[in-house]
Amino acid sequence: MNPNHYLRFSTTAWFLVTLIGQWLFAAYIALYHGTLLLQKGLLGMSETHMPNGYIEGDNFGNTLLAIHLITATVIIAGGPLQLIPQIRNRFPKFHRYLGRLYLAFVFFGASGGLYLIWTRPMPSFGNIYQNIAISIEALLIITFSILALKYAMARKIPMHQKWALRLFIVASGVWFLRIGYMAWYFFEGLSGIQFEYFFDIWSYGSFIVPLAILELYFLAIRKKQSSLTTITASVLIIVSIIMGIGISIAAIHMWLPRIIELM
Ligand code: HEM
Repeated sequence: MNPNHYLRFSTTAWFLVTLIGQWLFAAYIALYHGTLLLQKGLLGMSETHMPNGYIEGDNFGNTLLAIHLITATVIIAGGPLQLIPQIRNRFPKFHRYLGRLYLAFVFFGASGGLYLIWTRPMPSFGNIYQNIAISIEALLIITFSILALKYAMARKIPMHQKWALRLFIVASGVWFLRIGYMAWYFFEGLSGIQFEYFFDIWSYGSFIVPLAILELYFLAIRKKQSSLTTITASVLIIVSIIMGIGISIAAIHMWLPRIIELM
C-alpha cells in the first residue's frame, strides 16, 4: 500500500477505536455517576468506588467533584467530535459552540481536579507519584487549552488545530490511564510477568506516550518521507490494537459491572 494511504487508513482506524472507547467511557460516567447523583444527590458519591467520593462537611469539595463528573461526560463524549473534518466543515457553528464548551470544561476540570487532589485526604486519587503525574497533566491541559483558544481567536487555524489535538490527547489522559492499565493487566495475565510499579509509571506514560506519538504523526506529515510515514502508520496500527484490548477489558470488567450493580 502507498505510505500516504497506509497513514490515512491507520489514522482512521486509530480514530474509530478512540471514538468507540471514549463514548463507552462517557456512557459509563453518565449511567453510573449520573444515576447516583440524580437519585441521591452529592451523597450518591459515597456509594462509588472513589476513595474520597464524598467527604462529610466538605460541601465545596463535594460540589466541585460532582461538577467534575458531570462535565467529564461532555469532555469525553464531545472531544472526538471536534476532530471529525466533515463536522467541522459542514457544521462550523456546532464546532465553535462545542469547542468553547470543551475548552471551558477541560480548563475547569483540570483546575478543580488539582484542588481536589491536593486538598482531600491522602491517598486521594492515588499515591504521591500518581498525584504528581496527574498534576503535571492538569498543568498541560490548562496551558494547551489557553494556546488552542489563543490561536482560534487569532484565526491561525493550522496552529489552533495542532494545539487542539495536543489538548485532546492530554485531556484524554485519564482515559488512556484506565485503558492502558487494563491492556497491561491482559498482557500480565498472558505472559505471567508481574511489575508492581506499572501503575506509577503509566500515570506519567498515559499522557507522555500519546503526546509523543502525536508529535511523530506531525513530523511524518511535515517531512513527507515514505519510511517515516510507514513507521508512523505501523505505530498507529499497533497502538490501536493495544487500545482495543484495553477498552474491551475496561468496558467488560470495570465499567459494565459498576452500572449493573446499580440496577
Ligand atoms: C479533563 C479531563 C478529566 C476527565 C474527563 C476526568 C474524569 C474523571 C472521572 C470520570 C472521574 C470518576 C472516576 C471513575 O469513575 O473512574 C474522576 C474523578 C476524579 N478526578 Fe478527574 N478527570 C479529568 C481530569 C482530572 C485532573 C487533571 C485531575 C487532577 C489534577 C482530576 C482529579 C480527579 C479526582 C481527585 C477524582 C476523584 C477521585 C477519587 O476520589 O477516587 N481529574 N475524574
